[in-house]
Amino acid sequence: MNKQLLFIKRPQGEANASTWSLETNPIPEISDGEILIKQHYVSLDPAMRGWMNDARSYIAPMEIGSVMRAGSVGEVVASKNPKFEVGQYVAGTGGVQQYAVTDGKGFYPVDPKLAPLPTYIGSLGMPGMTAFFGIQEVGKIKEGDIVVVSGAAGAVGSIVGQIAKIKGCHVVGIAGGAKKCKYVVDELGFDACIDYKNEDVKERLKVECPKGLDVYFDNVGGEILDAALGRLRLHARIVICGAISQYNNKEAVKGPSNYLSLLVNRASMTGIVVFDWADRYKEGAEQLGKWMAQGKIKSREDIYEGIENFPETYNRLFSGEKMGKLVLKVIE
Ligand SMILES: NC(=O)c1ccc[n+]([C@@H]2O[C@H](COP(=O)([O-])OP(=O)(O)OC[C@H]3O[C@@H](n4cnc5c(N)ncnc54)[C@H](OP(=O)(O)O)[C@@H]3O)[C@@H](O)[C@H]2O)c1
Repeated sequence: MNKQLLFIKRPQGEANASTWSLETNPIPEISDGEILIKQHYVSLDPAMRGWMNDARSYIAPMEIGSVMRAGSVGEVVASKNPKFEVGQYVAGTGGVQQYAVTDGKGFYPVDPKLAPLPTYIGSLGMPGMTAFFGIQEVGKIKEGDIVVVSGAAGAVGSIVGQIAKIKGCHVVGIAGGAKKCKYVVDELGFDACIDYKNEDVKERLKVECPKGLDVYFDNVGGEILDAALGRLRLHARIVICGAISQYNNKEAVKGPSNYLSLLVNRASMTGIVVFDWADRYKEGAEQLGKWMAQGKIKSREDIYEGIENFPETYNRLFSGEKMGKLVLKVIE
């Protein structure tokens, strides 16, 4: 049997248990051209909240009654598709379910001998690619830059800051709580970390970036984005990657009021959508893999278990009660 999490109700504000329904259905037979994947791990991403809205975005909204969309990694257990062999491991967007039937489009092979499976939906998967191309291609970092990154202990932010350190930048993280800030500095090697839950971000940015900042990589939006805008240097770049502080808003997103700092500093603010870099993922994964093997980049996954625990695990994205990339193991 296949346990599947269906998306049954569009939330207003925060998603909760009534957003989904857990169902048990027979594992379907596959047809010619299809494969059956036993999905060991699914990825939990802040973007899921946006996919639930019936609104125009970079990807179609999820349909009511569909399997909850999610990145996944697992083993091919049946194949009628010549491109995939039984026993091979693959990653893709298989949804929150124990078994996925697919024609294989968007799935690619991964090697569990090179890295643990969850890493392929973390640092070597979508979040890692976002960090890799976001900070380098959009943020255009160069040696000596002063880089600030929010969501610094998270899946994307932790990799952004480590790449910026490798490239010779001065890196300041922003994260929630003393434990996360200690991890960001002591384990990940950032130069400093601001605890936005207990400190005045605006004031501490003045201390950590007395000359201002060259690049701000924004994962959270809201007041922290505004504080960073207030510290721009000439020709600074802001990478708009996400705005998790705004995703559960029932009212309009709160925009930045300090935006004229872009004018004064001839600065830019540019969005990134990771999928635009899909044809270069191989390059990104190879380089990140090398840095990980050399010990220059640390990858951390926080793994919870049980498909029935999806709603409470999902909430950890917003409460911050997790460290690193959030992953759910849905089957042994
Ligand atoms: N544009 C793209 O293509 C793309 C791709 C991937 C991800 N993203 C975006 O990148 C951001 C980070 O994603 P991720 O996967 O790396 O998630 P993550 O950082 O691993 O998890 C989310 C973190 O956000 C922080 N957070 C939650 N509510 C917050 C608030 N109100 N204010 C400030 N911080 C808050 C929490 O950390 P603390 O404990 O530190 O508060 C939480 O751990 C998200 O905005 C996501 O949507 C964009």
